[in-house]
Amino acid sequence: MASTSPRVLSGIQPTAGSFHLGNYLGAVRQWVALQESHDAFYMVVDLHAITVPQDPAELRANTRLAAAQLLAAGLDPERCTLFVQSHVPEHAQLAWIMNCLAGFGEASRMTQFKDKSAKHGAGNATVGLFTYPILQVADILLYQANQVPVGEDQRQHIELTRDLADRFNGRFGETFTVPEPYILKETAKIYDLQDPSIKMSKSASTPKGLINLLDDPKTTAKKVKSAVTDTDTVIKYDTENKPGVSNLLSIYSTLTGRTIAELEAEYEGKMYGALKTDLADVMVEFVTPFRTRTQQYLDDPETLDSLLAKGAEKARAVAAETLATAYDKVGLLPAKH
Ligand code: TYM
Repeated sequence: MASTSPRVLSGIQPTAGSFHLGNYLGAVRQWVALQESHDAFYMVVDLHAITVPQDPAELRANTRLAAAQLLAAGLDPERCTLFVQSHVPEHAQLAWIMNCLAGFGEASRMTQFKDKSAKHGAGNATVGLFTYPILQVADILLYQANQVPVGEDQRQHIELTRDLADRFNGRFGETFTVPEPYILKETAKIYDLQDPSIKMSKSASTPKGLINLLDDPKTTAKKVKSAVTDTDTVIKYDTENKPGVSNLLSIYSTLTGRTIAELEAEYEGKMYGALKTDLADVMVEFVTPFRTRTQQYLDDPETLDSLLAKGAEKARAVAAETLATAYDKVGLLPAKH
């Protein structure tokens, strides 16, 4: 059935095992909300994962684990299309076309590539890591997505997507929808609990500063209680002077639906300890059922796999149509059937 709702698409890597709080608050939470109002496509991006070395058995397990977590977070296969990127070969196919349209210089300016290749040692970075953003461009354009719900760190990749969509449309005629980033200000960047000057991330954070949703809830509570704040005792949202406290307030506000102003009023005159203890409780209340639900999906891999197969089938119908148009526009001779 053709849908007239605006379309969203997004993806998450299956590399870390557990999602962290930044993934959830920055992206996945919005995915869940948008499936109600949008024609939504969400995927586990296993092809992106292999741009850095992966253990094959672990990658396979983590791909299922990522899908299980997305369902546990509230994605409903009746309301959205949930699939695994490699199940839809059109992603790699359109990526090639986009590789041939992207400039070497513009790809070289992608900050995530620069960061990641520096981490692995410049000489060790693969060509796949270099063209990673171009595969992401293909992911988005294949579905003619209007909006892409992500965290702030993905903004540059969406800009590149817009540029390449415009370039293709200009050269070959109107083909692709030019997408907008969908980035919520309050949760665009969740910070490390030990070092609030860096974003929470599996690769940059220390274990104490990283909240993994599948950690033992006791560990999570401990991490929240030992979060870095600052030397005075005023509980106030001030990202410039109080990045640690502000990060905790953003997390608290998003998880409870209460405004920052309400929280500031409630904690006026109280110590940081009170805020952290209460937030630890809120977090435990959130992660405990999340872990249980994730495990339930994992316990039934057959259902999980067949649900992903259905998702891939739905995704492919859309992706194949866009790819055929793009091939035709570029001038590739159609194969005779
Ligand atoms: P990935 O797997 O690194 O992260 C998944 C999502 O989590 C967001 N995120 C954060 N948001 C706020 N604060 C943080 N500390 C934080 N850490 C991570 C990310 O912004 C992301 O939205 N390249 C993408 C995956 C991808 C994709 C796509 C996304 C592949 N194809 C097409 C959108 C559309 C990535 O590596 O996300």
